[in-house]
Amino acid sequence: MFSTVEEVREALAGEGYIADERLATTVFLQTRLDKPLLIEGPAGVGKTELAKVLAAATGRRLLRLQCYEGQDETKALYEWDYGKQLLYTQILREKIGQIVSDAADLGEAVERIGAQESVFFSDRFLAPRPLLEAVRSEEPVVLLVDEIDRADEALEAVLLELLGEYQVSVPEIGTFTAKHAPYVVLTSNNTRDLAAALKRRCLHLFLDYPAAERELEIVRSKKTGLPDALAAQLVDIVRGLRDLELRKSPSISETLDWARTLAVLGVDELSAQVLSDTVSVVVKYDKDVRKALDALPRLVDPNATVPASLHNGHSHGHSHGGHSHDHSHDGHSHDHDGHSHDHGDDDHGGDGRAVRAAKDKPGRFTDGYYGTPKKAGQSGPTAALGRRRAL
Ligand SMILES: Nc1ncnc2c1ncn2[C@@H]1O[C@H](COP(=O)(O)OP(=O)(O)OP(=O)(O)O)[C@@H](O)[C@H]1O
Ligand SMILES: [Mg+2]
Repeated sequence: MFSTVEEVREALAGEGYIADERLATTVFLQTRLDKPLLIEGPAGVGKTELAKVLAAATGRRLLRLQCYEGQDETKALYEWDYGKQLLYTQILREKIGQIVSDAADLGEAVERIGAQESVFFSDRFLAPRPLLEAVRSEEPVVLLVDEIDRADEALEAVLLELLGEYQVSVPEIGTFTAKHAPYVVLTSNNTRDLAAALKRRCLHLFLDYPAAERELEIVRSKKTGLPDALAAQLVDIVRGLRDLELRKSPSISETLDWARTLAVLGVDELSAQVLSDTVSVVVKYDKDVRKALDALPRLVDPNATVPASLHNGHSHGHSHGGHSHDHSHDGHSHDHDGHSHDHGDDDHGGDGRAVRAAKDKPGRFTDGYYGTPKKAGQSGPTAALGRRRAL
């Protein structure tokens, strides 16, 4: 058990996780108040990592429930081991035969089998899944419920008993209560709103892209091989890219990938050219790449003019000095008559917005997803939820 916030920060740092004051305080409170922790925020900011590191720092076993659409409680809580039940009835066929052999009629035979039912719905045939396993564990554990927003609302309801009382009820057997309250960490990318009942039971932490110093500290701690001075410059450039209205902003893990890439290339100066050549490490949509290419010279050197060579193969970016035009003209699609022409992921010509939108549904990266610019009249995650429901 941690006795101070500083101790939490040191323990996490010992496992390679750089926490700021707010994060360390929340984790400290979680361990002291025995409350689950719900972490929301964009992709790649260290939500899942925090749970892993917390387990390592406290010497607890990590149990993980990875959520997905359509997941039901049998994969989260427990299920009955049907195969084993069947095997036992096969092996015990003779014994079962004896029990019903002198029954007067079918009704009585069923009664007698019914009386034995509890044998087959007992602990022996129970197959615990992560939630029940966390409650039944003899040793204290960390339970990670990852990407809860991807699961259906029904699964949230299933979680409520566990989150509120650290217990799970199995009607045939009874209620299991945790010997040691698990440290529960839930993560969400906020692709939809979570139930108020769930939020109420948790400490809440919004984890955003880190401050420059913390991000630099993270890059340094990961020993990417990139000299400190270049790492500092790189962090600033990534922060500049985050300010562009990209469809998917680069996250901490992408900063790390970029640093490693540049280190492998043996770069000793961050030029617009080398950054442009490797930009696909951090931005992964064609339109984002073009926006990034436009902005990079300015981010490297605010007084730079854009060399024409950087636009090779990207003839749609008519921008100079960091002012970017794309051909979508404020959301008006160039897909005439509503028929979409598949240009693959490349949305040169004809815009491709409609094609991409069709591919997106009901994916996570719709409008309102963190890191994507909102369109007028949409209220973010709730709008995304509305669409999901409609489907
Ligand atoms: N505070 C931090 N200290 C050290 N490393 C970090 C930190 N935050 C993020 N990272 C690095 O970023 C990587 C991505 O983090 P993680 O997988 O936890 O992201 P996430 O928030 O769970 O993203 P997603 O929503 O996509 O699952 C980690 O593997 C880790 O290397
Ligand atoms: Mg994650």
